[in-house]
Amino acid sequence: MENEVGIEDLAGVGPSTASKLNDAGYYNVQSLAAAPITELVNKAGITQAAALKIVEEARKHTSIDLITAKDLWEKRKQMDKISLGVDSLNQLLGGGLETQAITEFWGEYASGKSQICMYLSIIVQQPKEKGGLDAKTLFIDTEGTFHPQRLYQIAESNGLNPEETLANIIYARCYNSDHQQLIVDTAFKICHEENVKLVVVDSVITHWRSEYVGRENLSERQQKLNNHLHKLLRLAEVFNLAVVVTNQVQSNPQAFFGNPNRPAGGNVLSHGTTHRIYLRKSSKNLRVATITDSPSLPPDKEALFTITEKGIEEAQPKT
Ligand SMILES: Nc1ncnc2c1ncn2[C@@H]1O[C@H](COP(=O)(O)OP(=O)(O)O)[C@@H](O)[C@H]1O
Ligand SMILES: [Mg+2]
Repeated sequence: MENEVGIEDLAGVGPSTASKLNDAGYYNVQSLAAAPITELVNKAGITQAAALKIVEEARKHTSIDLITAKDLWEKRKQMDKISLGVDSLNQLLGGGLETQAITEFWGEYASGKSQICMYLSIIVQQPKEKGGLDAKTLFIDTEGTFHPQRLYQIAESNGLNPEETLANIIYARCYNSDHQQLIVDTAFKICHEENVKLVVVDSVITHWRSEYVGRENLSERQQKLNNHLHKLLRLAEVFNLAVVVTNQVQSNPQAFFGNPNRPAGGNVLSHGTTHRIYLRKSSKNLRVATITDSPSLPPDKEALFTITEKGIEEAQPKT
């Protein structure tokens, strides 16, 4: 299904337009064939007529619209898995964290979301036999809770070279929701140039929640969030990488029984993510993970883990 035709081979695309399209995050004909016209106009600074023509040309060279289930199966077979470093969590996730998908960890403050993200960004660097993909991480930090010293500690206590480990994590501090969109646009360029197999957004919704307050702004917020998640999924599919997002909780006043919390972000987030995992604090240092939504993983199974100097570890059975 690989397309041999490059952007610059399209009729009407000269070197200068090709470079504008690259700068806007478009590197192949497939991504142009699926590009929204307004996005091309705004980001690449080309006219609407030119954008329409380019998309039309790109579609002529793209045959991805109709594929058989067998083709899809072949694509899914290329899917890789990143270990979470803990057997019970790997079992919960059907073997590990999937590429070509968005996995969401949601839970209250201090439930371990950022710790899992940091730990994963070290595991992905390991060779396949150790559960990694020999690859880098792009870590998008919206809350300022990314701690290089914690990564240093985890790397060192696992016998890894801390400086090398830190050098393989590309860090982007994100200041507002527009900036977050921009970083994800830039991610297409970064992932094209660097061997990134894990993209973390910790947390995905913080900025939208604080910027779009009130019912009157809800639909705009949800629309933008939807667009953001679509881009993240496209990133995961185009580069066969894993996207992890974290999410906060929102209390559910209608819940008389069961969990009084639910993930923030409503339907947009529930439809936009592939697998959702709820994290909660149990006793002292014990954490519990449960699948709350997934097209392929069984719900309601639980996995226990603890947070230690070494990162995330199997919970020790009670003696
Ligand atoms: N070096 C460490 N050793 C043991 N526990 C740690 C260590 N660093 C952080 N933690 C634990 O991780 C918790 C924070 O988890 P974090 O992933 O930041 O939560 P959040 O879900 O809010 O992102 C702290 O409350 C602490 O219990
Ligand atoms: Mg956090």
